[in-house]
Amino acid sequence: MNQIISLEQVHLKFHRVEVFFNVNFSLPEKSFYFLTGPSGSGKTSLLKMLYGALLPSTGIVSVLGKSMRALNKSDIPAFRRNLGLVFQDEQLIKHFTPLQNVALPLIIREVNEKEALTKANEMLEWVGLTGFTDTPTHLLSAGQRQRVAIARAVIANPKLILADEPTANVDRENALRMLHLFEELYKSGVTVVVASHDRSLAAAFPYPEIAIRDKAVEIIQPGRRRNTGIDALDELDHSSRAVLSSKGEIHL
Ligand SMILES: Nc1ncnc2c1ncn2[C@@H]1O[C@H](COP(=O)(O)OP(=O)(O)O)[C@@H](O)[C@H]1O
Ligand SMILES: [Mg+2]
Repeated sequence: MNQIISLEQVHLKFHRVEVFFNVNFSLPEKSFYFLTGPSGSGKTSLLKMLYGALLPSTGIVSVLGKSMRALNKSDIPAFRRNLGLVFQDEQLIKHFTPLQNVALPLIIREVNEKEALTKANEMLEWVGLTGFTDTPTHLLSAGQRQRVAIARAVIANPKLILADEPTANVDRENALRMLHLFEELYKSGVTVVVASHDRSLAAAFPYPEIAIRDKAVEIIQPGRRRNTGIDALDELDHSSRAVLSSKGEIHL
């Protein structure tokens, strides 16, 4: 299977803060991965390296067959058109209606306005916001705004969706609802990477995890995560882990 993302010997350092030390992994296309790790572990930095907002200090990051280092600044907009980006803060244009926000990526691609608005309507219906197409953006709930952001991110059929803590500002019910939308996209053949510091959300789905730990990345398969109770592990101090580990109840 083709790799849509690959990192080889990636190191990332900001002045004196070392975020990644020798990270190597690749993701096959048409896959769904959660990106997990505590706050400050490097989730946003990793995603930025994937969408060309940040270069690693050393090492190779390739996305969609392109080495990010080889992209010029002027190549970035065209490259990003293959991507659907969703952020913690949904970054909607406040004086645009939801419909206009969702249609924008098509307008930028010079799709005619009628066609763009028809497609935007369909996308808003898909995310469950029929009837909210012209509601002022500030009157929508956080969960509704995020669903507008998802509709906008995917209206132009991206190959890869990168979402940086999209569920951080919504309750669990809305978080699951959003993740089910990402799941539908994955099932339709799009590659999806969703960052979350909340591993219990990842545990609710049968997808692997890119787990950042101690400047490194570990790919955790869903079966392993569930069987080991690794979520609970995050709450444990070091000595409790050692005891559990010696009893063979967990496997690190
Ligand atoms: N532009 C930057 N300059 C200096 N340090 C940064 C910068 N961006 C992130 N960091 C640091 O890198 C580490 C990882 O940050 P980040 O990628 O935002 O983590 P996360 O998204 O997992 O919370 C943190 O220690 C953060 O302070
Ligand atoms: Mg972050």
